[in-house]
Amino acid sequence: MNRRTHTCGELTSANISEKVSLNGWVNAVRFHGQVVFVDIRDRYGKTQIVYNQESFKGDFELVKKLSMEDVLSVMGVVQKRDKNAINPNIATGDVEVAISDHKILNEAAPLPFMITDRNSAEEDLRLKYRFLELRTNELQNNIEVRHRTYQAVRTFLSNNDFLEVETPVLMKSTPEGARDYLVPSRMHNGKFYALPQSPQMYKQLLMISGFDKYFQIVKCFRDEDLRADRQPEFTQIDIEMSFVVEDDVMGKCEELTRYIFKKVQNINLVKPFPKMTYDDAMSKYGTDCPDLRYDLLLNDFKSFSEKSEFKAFNSVECVKGIIVPGGANYSRKEIDNFTEHVKRYRAKGLAWMKADAGKLTGGISKFFNDDLQTEIRKNLNMNDGDILFIIGDDNKITQLSLGALRVAIARKEEYIETKEFKPVWITDFPMFEYSHEDKRYHSLQHPFTQPKSDDLEKLKVSPESIPSKQYDLIINGYEIAGGSIRIHNSKLQKTIFDILGIDKYEAKERFGFFIDALKYGTPPHGGIAFGFDRLVMLLAGTNNIRDVIAFPKTTSAMSLMDGAPSSVSNAQLKELGIQIKK
Ligand code: AMO
Repeated sequence: MNRRTHTCGELTSANISEKVSLNGWVNAVRFHGQVVFVDIRDRYGKTQIVYNQESFKGDFELVKKLSMEDVLSVMGVVQKRDKNAINPNIATGDVEVAISDHKILNEAAPLPFMITDRNSAEEDLRLKYRFLELRTNELQNNIEVRHRTYQAVRTFLSNNDFLEVETPVLMKSTPEGARDYLVPSRMHNGKFYALPQSPQMYKQLLMISGFDKYFQIVKCFRDEDLRADRQPEFTQIDIEMSFVVEDDVMGKCEELTRYIFKKVQNINLVKPFPKMTYDDAMSKYGTDCPDLRYDLLLNDFKSFSEKSEFKAFNSVECVKGIIVPGGANYSRKEIDNFTEHVKRYRAKGLAWMKADAGKLTGGISKFFNDDLQTEIRKNLNMNDGDILFIIGDDNKITQLSLGALRVAIARKEEYIETKEFKPVWITDFPMFEYSHEDKRYHSLQHPFTQPKSDDLEKLKVSPESIPSKQYDLIINGYEIAGGSIRIHNSKLQKTIFDILGIDKYEAKERFGFFIDALKYGTPPHGGIAFGFDRLVMLLAGTNNIRDVIAFPKTTSAMSLMDGAPSSVSNAQLKELGIQIKK
């Protein structure tokens, strides 16, 4: 091998006549009789090299056999390309290297898909050969964006006095929210470690230990249902601060987010980020992760439906509607597709009316008299050519299903401007949500979040009425970060466990050490965690989380490349004291 003098993305007209060596992969081969053009590629770019049978000193027959992804070491002289061969789209596009000698360092077996075209194979095949997919331009770029994001995070936080501290990966199982991944102990048969869903308790303990500004770029593990923006193991930028109120944490995180966007992609985000309460987000956008790049707001419709002859909405808690400008040309089939979509969110159906020639027509319009139609059009600002979709149900189903419809319409109508970034803080979340299934309250975030009121009696009597000091950062409809001011008093912490139905013994068993630690001079503190992969997803301009993780899992939590999860030998199981039930 000749050591490379330059990378494949480096040579320009300034290097003409220089003798150079390049190492890289064959990215394209073009045969023109006695001349063979090859694009040689590494992670920095690609360079056109030219083998001319007359001047090439090696075996020209082997050159003719070069194939995609063979690994080459070449030597030659940089020359200007013919005028009509200049490629202004790549950095090395003005030049080519006339090869005098080369070494084929390794031949590549026939490829399962084209490195130059990711779409030449289904995702499953690409994941099986992920090491090859990682050679594609797109993934090379994403991994580099990810790298720049790590560096920006560390620089900003370190410059702001945050200390990076690692916390254990093998910890005690304290499930809350998702299921834990468990790790059996060999030394303590029958006992298990858990992989952290997040380092929540550790970061709070670090505050008790006096490290008033902590951060960590940390892997978290959650055995939960996966989606396009979720992975079973993912990375957080975990942050905790002492002696702070909500605005301190949110303010610092805004600065951090702005710094990252500027440093990594030269994007300026608004200053300050807008804030919206949870109730407002749910009632206007039908989600606590609103995408502010487009309007399509949810309008209250109960006052209109009550005056109509359409009785199906009379007994429901909430009726809301969305107006789609120009949507009157939707076909029956398109409306049926939207109906199927909202049913996935438990809506029973999707009512609609179209505006035409000053009236409302079709769907349920016949139940609305002329005066009411005029009132609706005027109040909701509905114009000829628009369609109004309406759902009535309980608050939650109405909001969530219309919220989902809002997103589906925006996608269909291409309202989404992908180069725009619209952050928003969501605040005033409820502390608890009642689960009719489990017949108990669940924390909306986690049980360490502080309520906005210190009225313990009110908290016990009507837990749902108290908002919490939680804040989430949403960008373009993605939950990018979530955090809260924490409880720093063991009495309040116990009350919260009571409300959550975690009894004294269970609390002691699961969180005893933590409640105990709170007694020893705990400073007021709060923090947040960013979904690092989601952040990189936005920065890299993709909406698939797998595109920004070097070796991701599928939505069924499998690694198609190495076959994890896999069976283990009986000997291993025996050592761990585990028997698999067939
Ligand atoms: P939370 O559970 O909201 O909070 O997680 C913080 C952020 O992590 C990202 N995230 C995920 N990303 C990819 N795959 C997943 N499965 C996944 N789950 C969550 C999201 C989310 O906003 N300990 C608290 C934080 C705190 O209170 O400080 C926590 O983990 O972007």
